[in-house]
Amino acid sequence: MTDAPARKKLSLPQLIQPKAPLVMVTAYDHAQARHAEAAGVDLILVGDSLGNVVLGYESTAQVTLGDMLHHARAVRRGAPNTFMVVDLPFGTYQLGPQAALQAAVQLVQEAGADAVKLEGAAPNELECVRRISAAGIPVMGHVGLLPQTAVAQGGLRVQGKDETSARRALEGALALEEAGAFSAVLEAIPAALAALITARTQIPTIGIGAGPQCDGQVLVYHDVLGVYEGPVMKMVRRYAEVGQLSREGLSSYAADVRARQFPAPENSFGIADEVLERLY
Ligand code: KIV
Repeated sequence: MTDAPARKKLSLPQLIQPKAPLVMVTAYDHAQARHAEAAGVDLILVGDSLGNVVLGYESTAQVTLGDMLHHARAVRRGAPNTFMVVDLPFGTYQLGPQAALQAAVQLVQEAGADAVKLEGAAPNELECVRRISAAGIPVMGHVGLLPQTAVAQGGLRVQGKDETSARRALEGALALEEAGAFSAVLEAIPAALAALITARTQIPTIGIGAGPQCDGQVLVYHDVLGVYEGPVMKMVRRYAEVGQLSREGLSSYAADVRARQFPAPENSFGIADEVLERLY
């Protein structure tokens, strides 16, 4: 692959005061990270959506810290010059601020994370944000739909349509800012509510299914590129059909092997005749 000229990693002050809408995409392995960096995205999220799109789990709640470390290391190696945010998986910060800090330190030391992200803005989560950011590790918050605890939210569905749920997202984002989060993901909430949160907070908001008024946007790699074929959710725009290309490519390979069309002479290695003769 031909890489674009190396771009300098954006600093935290540059991310907090972006000159243009921030572009974030998820990545889970070395090749995806190289693609994202070569495309010039501002941030890579090693999201715990890893569980759904890479590991085949039913829920992100099954993803472990070990899974996140393993994949974040590969992403770091593929994208050394891009700001990398890594999700704290379910079961780390729910155990309290000390466990959260320990997991965050591991993600920084062992995987090279520039920042970590956690979901929700309940008192425990706010305390975790305070503790981790006080230790010098930037934290991204996440309100609206919270996939790790979606069961408690009634499933993977749009949040913030009624006053209680809308207030939870708005007040959650404000509380995360107050606790020291440097940014917040707004997931699956009405566009007008995301615009209000963006106007009320000083930190950049990064939307996914949250309309155009956020300070940035994030999408899942597999959704943007059509790694899985078939219809996509409304909040996704598909920019390529990698799944279809991949299936077609593999079908052609299988057909060529079966028809003895592969490997061809140009795919094979030679040996001098006299060497071969001595073997007979
Ligand atoms: O894990 C993930 O991919 C996420 C995005 C949906 C923001 O948290």
